[in-house]
Amino acid sequence: MDTNEIRKKFFEFQIENGHKVIEPAPLVLEGDPTTLFTGSGMQPLLPYLLGKEHPDGTRLCDSQPSMRMQDIEDVGDPRHTTVFEMLGNWSLGDYFKEEQIRNFFKFLTETVGLDPKRIYVTCFIGNEKYGIPKDTEAAEIWQKVFKEAGIEAKVAEIGTAAEGDKRGIKEGERIFFYDDHENWWSRGGGCESTPIGDPCGPDSEVFYDFGEDKQDVEKYGLAHPASDGARFMEIGNSVFMQYRRLEDGSFEPLEKKNVDFGGGLERIAAAAIDSFDVFKISLMKPIIDHLEKISGKSYENNTDEMRVIADHIRGAYLLAAQGLVPSNKAHGYAMRRLLRRAILRALDLGISSNFLAEIVPIVTENYADLPDSVLMHRESALETMLHEENAFRKTLNRGLKELAKITRNNKILDGKDIFMLQDTYGFPMELSVEECYRQGIELSKDYIKEFEAALAEQRKRSQTASKGMFKGGLEDHGEQTVKYHTACHLLLAALQKIVAPDICQKGSNITSERVRFDFNVDHKLTDEEKKAVEDQVNEWIKEDLPVVFDEYDKDYARNSLKAHGEFWDKYPDVLKVYTIGDFDNPVSREVCGGPHVEHTGVIGHFKIVKEESSSAGVRRIKAVIE
Ligand code: ALA
Repeated sequence: MDTNEIRKKFFEFQIENGHKVIEPAPLVLEGDPTTLFTGSGMQPLLPYLLGKEHPDGTRLCDSQPSMRMQDIEDVGDPRHTTVFEMLGNWSLGDYFKEEQIRNFFKFLTETVGLDPKRIYVTCFIGNEKYGIPKDTEAAEIWQKVFKEAGIEAKVAEIGTAAEGDKRGIKEGERIFFYDDHENWWSRGGGCESTPIGDPCGPDSEVFYDFGEDKQDVEKYGLAHPASDGARFMEIGNSVFMQYRRLEDGSFEPLEKKNVDFGGGLERIAAAAIDSFDVFKISLMKPIIDHLEKISGKSYENNTDEMRVIADHIRGAYLLAAQGLVPSNKAHGYAMRRLLRRAILRALDLGISSNFLAEIVPIVTENYADLPDSVLMHRESALETMLHEENAFRKTLNRGLKELAKITRNNKILDGKDIFMLQDTYGFPMELSVEECYRQGIELSKDYIKEFEAALAEQRKRSQTASKGMFKGGLEDHGEQTVKYHTACHLLLAALQKIVAPDICQKGSNITSERVRFDFNVDHKLTDEEKKAVEDQVNEWIKEDLPVVFDEYDKDYARNSLKAHGEFWDKYPDVLKVYTIGDFDNPVSREVCGGPHVEHTGVIGHFKIVKEESSSAGVRRIKAVIE
């Protein structure tokens, strides 16, 4: 059975059980700024899982194209992909554990024809801190289901995945209890990371066993369902969504208990052909075959590169077919990254001329069954991709030539050179670094520092252009001044958090010795407020939060990223945004030209030395770092 057949049979199976097939959502969800891309089938259904009535009833199913850019570094192993289709079925307050477990087992063993003796499952061990009980109910249902298939399934308590790596599995064990890092599902991860307001619950995952010889014990430890080796592959997950996270961090039971099931279509297809490698399924194989043909190299000896190329071209195609174009901001940047990585890996295989024109049509054909609700711009996808391939190829060739010139006489490549390559030739820093590794060119060990110094130097020179737009108020770009600048962002965030959320910056002046910061507020700050603001800034410094920036489209920065800015009508269409702390839940996010430190930990101790009036409704803080 190939993916198209499995998808079709899944729908038939679910329809027989009273489900309605719904249209999958696009990869970019309008009005949902919480994630860059649709990463699971439940995401478009969030309001319904929280209790809203769905027009199509209480039993739904679909196949949702999903994208998880967070997995990009794992692509290259036999099963990770950034893009995949998730078969889903949902009970919105209708059936619960027993019907779900029975039906998924039946689908796998009777419809797809998987061997029940090779199926292993996991359940939630409970969490005392949050008062969430162990899911013995799910485990007992599984025992019954296995028994009916003639299998005596023993139950094992594993706890954490690391404990499993030491313990492995014992004779007859088939049902495993793990903690919330494995068997609790929310969009954020385990109990602690569940986003406030989101539905969540214990889950039960199903794994397929590809045989003991697939586990690399030395590298990954003993095999068990949640281990990292290639023996067990997760092929489906039934989430028993029965809680919602509250503001105070606790979990309240939902009025209606739901089932949220997600199964990786490509992985189920791999199990169906008994391949532990998902890149062998009919959806991927023609792409790999073509890569073998044009590179003259074998998949067996170049698995890593060929998997990355196949996955990334599929991902970029899906984004292009949504009407996205490569850019330096969020969604477009993901697409650019996928394409550039694919082109670079192809270069590693010796494919140095354009190859997308031949490969994309293979991908297109594979996706012919996806509805227009997902691929609304499929006609223009190829052209979008070819345009980027041409542009990147030019950049690459120019950059590589310059890099070769610089390093001709065994010269070490330093950060200043890397900056020049990026600034003048558009050849990104990561590529310079990768090329050095690839070609065995020596790289200066301080290249990051040198790069930053060159960047700061260049900013200083070009500041006139942006003066008035980004009032950084920086006197120079020396190290101490840069620390003050980042402290300034923390100060504004602390004032907004502690004193009033609508506080805006009304001007600032930073030297290497102090910061002067003006802001609007209707009262003189009390000693307690000053102390609390100071403590908050110091706490964030102590947490050593990352400071990152990127360029974004103005509307996206303002409306989706909710960046703080003072001069929205004066800003250019594309602007730079600095984020401090967790990207999805930042401490501070401001439109700013920079520069900033990379980690707050280097700032030092922050101290407010004076708070005074500046003008009507504007107060001024003078602060130092010690
Ligand atoms: N929402 C669940 C998942 O993504 C089914 O695994």
